[in-house]
Amino acid sequence: MVKMITFLPKGKRIAVKPRESILDAALEIGLRLRHVCDRKASCTTCKVLVETGMEHLSPMEKKEAEMLGEGRIAQNIRLSCQARLTGTGSVTVVIPNLYEAPKATA
Ligand code: FES
Repeated sequence: MVKMITFLPKGKRIAVKPRESILDAALEIGLRLRHVCDRKASCTTCKVLVETGMEHLSPMEKKEAEMLGEGRIAQNIRLSCQARLTGTGSVTVVIPNLYEAPKATA
């Protein structure tokens, strides 16, 4: 079964490779998801809201949990650089801070 990640609000989908992070899948299809600390779980700029399929993601490690805090964890937020699709199903995530390139001015 092909494991897919759907990214909202754009509605883009990708079949993920084994152990690929949500962040890397997003970047692969051209979604400019912020990742200021470059995958070190120390900035939270890459956070996403997991709308469906939380049970298919890798367990949260201590550092990710500390960075997110109980409030965000309760809202199904994960760090996309840490969360990997390890289960058998698919996942839908919402990117709250998708970076849009500034519009060119004339
Ligand atoms: S890139 Fe900084 S926490 Fe994910």
